[in-house]
Amino acid sequence: MSLLLDEIAVAAARLAEAGVESPRTDAELIAAHVHGVARGALPAVPDASFDPRFWDEIARREAREPLQHITGLAYFRYLDLEVGPGVFVPRPETEIMTGWAIDRLTEMDVAEPVVADLGAGSGAIALAISQEVPRARVHAVEADPLARQWAARNIARCGAAAPHTAGRVTLHAGDFAAALTGLDGAADLVISNPPYIPEGAWVPTEVGEYDPATALWGGADGLDAIRRIEDVARRLLRPRGLVAVEHGEKQGSAVYWIFPEERGWRETRNHKDLAGRDRFVTAARA
Ligand SMILES: C[S@@+](CC[C@H](N)C(=O)[O-])C[C@H]1O[C@@H](n2cnc3c(N)ncnc32)[C@H](O)[C@@H]1O
Repeated sequence: MSLLLDEIAVAAARLAEAGVESPRTDAELIAAHVHGVARGALPAVPDASFDPRFWDEIARREAREPLQHITGLAYFRYLDLEVGPGVFVPRPETEIMTGWAIDRLTEMDVAEPVVADLGAGSGAIALAISQEVPRARVHAVEADPLARQWAARNIARCGAAAPHTAGRVTLHAGDFAAALTGLDGAADLVISNPPYIPEGAWVPTEVGEYDPATALWGGADGLDAIRRIEDVARRLLRPRGLVAVEHGEKQGSAVYWIFPEERGWRETRNHKDLAGRDRFVTAARA
């Protein structure tokens, strides 16, 4: 065993004691980050290279700061995105909904599909769509100035990696309720991972203390933002255009009824995440 692997084992036990969900993985990823190596290369780090800053970062995680704030990166589909204080850390559940949108856009018989991402956060959804459907024109709307800074940084970062990507994402400031009026009736797809946690619900420390409040809370039943998104999507979409909206695992049937036929929706469907929990609703504009 190397010194670093011994320290990782001790750190993992400390993280487990602190209630961290995946203590061993987090300890290894923090070690890899501090030592500037891939996780698979940890056993090869010489004892003399052990960096004691490892323990500073473990202490942050022990205090339940999110792993992604410590490493500064979140992975989303084929992207790595910069994240930190002031922006929502993108989640794996959202990758599934984004994949659904990417599949629909890929098969859509439209030269340059127009997409609106309502509540862009780090830019995860908008950038993944732009990367995987390069012919799409993506409009990302974000009200929170701090979150917008992270989105702008990630758009620039992806632009550096693949010039076509950022060139096709336009970031808009403001409330999505009143946004993108120039696209009324012209959008091919509207997508959103809005705030949907009911006011007062319990959330883990990593979420409650580190994700911004504007990204979390959706009013008494958690559905305030989703109701607004239904309005905005109805305004923005062309006939047969598609909407996809993420929600909490217990909100599937309530969100289904936010997109009824009487309000001009067809083919409303519930979709599950990889754990088999209701996670997003899609519908088509009549
Ligand atoms: C749950 S986060 C999702 C961020 C990103 N789309 C993702 O999936 O990682 C919701 C985002 O919507 C933004 N937001 C909430 N209400 C908004 C509104 N009325 N207009 C624009 N943005 C809003 C929040 O600031 C936050 O960045």
